[in-house]
Amino acid sequence: MAQAVGIDIGGTGIKGALVDTTKGILLSDRIKMDTPKGGEPDDIVKVVVTIIEQLKVEKTLPVGVCFPAIVIDGKTMSAANVSHKWINFEAEKFFEKALGRDIRFVNDADAAGVGEVRYGAAKDVAGLVLMTTLGTGIGSALIYDGVLVPNAELGHIEVDGKDAETRASYAAKERGRLSFRSWAKRLQRYYSALEFLLSPNLFVVGGGVSKSYEEFLPLLKLRTKIVPATLRNNAGILGAAALAVDRVDAAKIPAAKR
Ligand code: BGC
Repeated sequence: MAQAVGIDIGGTGIKGALVDTTKGILLSDRIKMDTPKGGEPDDIVKVVVTIIEQLKVEKTLPVGVCFPAIVIDGKTMSAANVSHKWINFEAEKFFEKALGRDIRFVNDADAAGVGEVRYGAAKDVAGLVLMTTLGTGIGSALIYDGVLVPNAELGHIEVDGKDAETRASYAAKERGRLSFRSWAKRLQRYYSALEFLLSPNLFVVGGGVSKSYEEFLPLLKLRTKIVPATLRNNAGILGAAALAVDRVDAAKIPAAKR
């Protein structure tokens, strides 16, 4: 059994748990704390330190942290819906220093997608799985035959002349007080565009609202199968933990064989 800690940083909450990455289950209670106002790095890292202390895990255990930004080699490159201090920020190094241990820092939707592909709604699905998370923004993960193509930012494609997430995220539904039926019309435009551009084998729809999937998924007319995420709020935690273990495993292989 492989174990790791998964931490999921979001705009409103920061969640963490100890994970069995072989089975894809939580081995501890999920600890949840509020995201500090302003969402700045210094304040967020303090919360993550507290969560890891509360989990009382060994120092050697891999830790995966996921966050709503493009993350290249541990550096955050964007900041949609979070503090601008994260742009061009060495997030992974910053967290490693504060936590006194190695970590792996990844995009939140990538982590959720890896979670769903390994343990959830897209388990054993061959070909292209396109995970989307409908929340404050729209997150996306592209996974082909189980291999993640990191940092797809498909929440920001232009649909009807607008940034897609400003029209079709769950926050957009709330802002506009849209019924599920009206929101589904926007989702239809969005998923049709993705389907045309990428011809995936499966769409997985995550984010808190996916628990109400019966209200909107049946309204969508697509040739691609579209299913709700099954790991719900734990997808990011599970995926981040799995990606942290992958990094540790990859480091064990001599460079010449990688
Ligand atoms: C960000 C993505 C993130 C998504 C979900 C988008 O606004 O650009 O990086 O994955 O929100 O949090």
